[in-house]
Amino acid sequence: MKINGNYANIQQSYLFSTVAAKVKQYSQEHPQADIIKLGIGDVTLPLCSAVCDAMHAAVDEMGVQETFKGYGPEQGYGFLKEALVSYYAGKGVTLMPDEIFISDGAKSDLGNILDLFDRDNTVLVPDPVYPVYVDTNIMDGRRIIFADANESNGFLPMPDKDTDADIIYICSPNNPTGAVYNKQQLKAWVDYALARQALILFDAAYEAFISGDLPTSIYQIEGAQECAIEFCSFSKTAGFTGTRCGYTVVPAGLERGGMKLNKMWLRRQTTKFNGVPYIVQKGAAAVFSPEGQKQIRQNIAYYKNNAQVIARTMRELGIWFTGGENSPYIWLKCPGGMKSWDFFDYLLEKANVVGTPGSGFGKNGECFFRLTAFGDAGRTLEATERIKKLIKNDFRG
Ligand code: MLT
Repeated sequence: MKINGNYANIQQSYLFSTVAAKVKQYSQEHPQADIIKLGIGDVTLPLCSAVCDAMHAAVDEMGVQETFKGYGPEQGYGFLKEALVSYYAGKGVTLMPDEIFISDGAKSDLGNILDLFDRDNTVLVPDPVYPVYVDTNIMDGRRIIFADANESNGFLPMPDKDTDADIIYICSPNNPTGAVYNKQQLKAWVDYALARQALILFDAAYEAFISGDLPTSIYQIEGAQECAIEFCSFSKTAGFTGTRCGYTVVPAGLERGGMKLNKMWLRRQTTKFNGVPYIVQKGAAAVFSPEGQKQIRQNIAYYKNNAQVIARTMRELGIWFTGGENSPYIWLKCPGGMKSWDFFDYLLEKANVVGTPGSGFGKNGECFFRLTAFGDAGRTLEATERIKKLIKNDFRG
């Protein structure tokens, strides 16, 4: 019997598990510490009432013989897919319900989609970015190359015609930097993928945080339906991190190696996945009701206000940062040229504030740090007061 030896090539623990373990150990050693967590991007506001009402009604349906549901369609109920078709129509994107697959979240689908692809593909991943793209490909033993994102390109790397990539990850708004591609920039990626017959895996998990005239879906770009799969989630949009619901769009016409990827993904999902609970899908569909939209937009505004509170603090301290405008993350340069994990320890020990070390998102994240705006407003303000006091004292004194 042989195990998957590729596991020997990944970091021993997933970034956010490492952060959680360090914080747990610190709080065990310092039980009095009042720790404020601005690390993992986990929401704190409760599900909105439109979602809860729909879920309650669905629970009642499940308790009655006539409306009880057993196994549902693995790829999602029609009512949720239709709601998504209308949501995309609002973006000027025409989709068919069968192009949408409901799942338990973008993270799972981003990992699972790799079932469809040969291991002998070269994968292009931006650096820094959400660590799941790299880890899942290392697990499969694929060759990974990196597109450097840094201050000089505004953390938005562009295609290089000499780079030979088969699978390209794009995360816009980017996790962790908050950088968002405009239409011309995304068009350059689509053209690159079409020219090479490569495939873009587009992570739109933070699309609801975009304000202004920036693309919120890769399918707003001409030609993308022939070269891109899009992943999205209700986690950050509507507070479903614990409830679990997301979706993946695989265009019907998308073909590689003579195979329709939509058919392959359907086959994969119907074989390996049993669908998202009816109650959860009912809640997710309520996100698209007029009341649901109003309520989730209020929650997003609340988080964006937290981002502004953090941003103001960085400006006051003269700390370079980006993000926070179209994303729930502030991406900052560690003061005094500190390394990311050193700054993590320093903030945890001296201010009892938890963030995420930038180096966990890639080598270009070294000496950077991410703070999330998904916290409680009062606690976020408290965290910024602590950071202000500490940095002023130690670096600006
Ligand atoms: C993050 O903090 O980057 C996200 O919460 C991780 C995730 O969405 O899985």
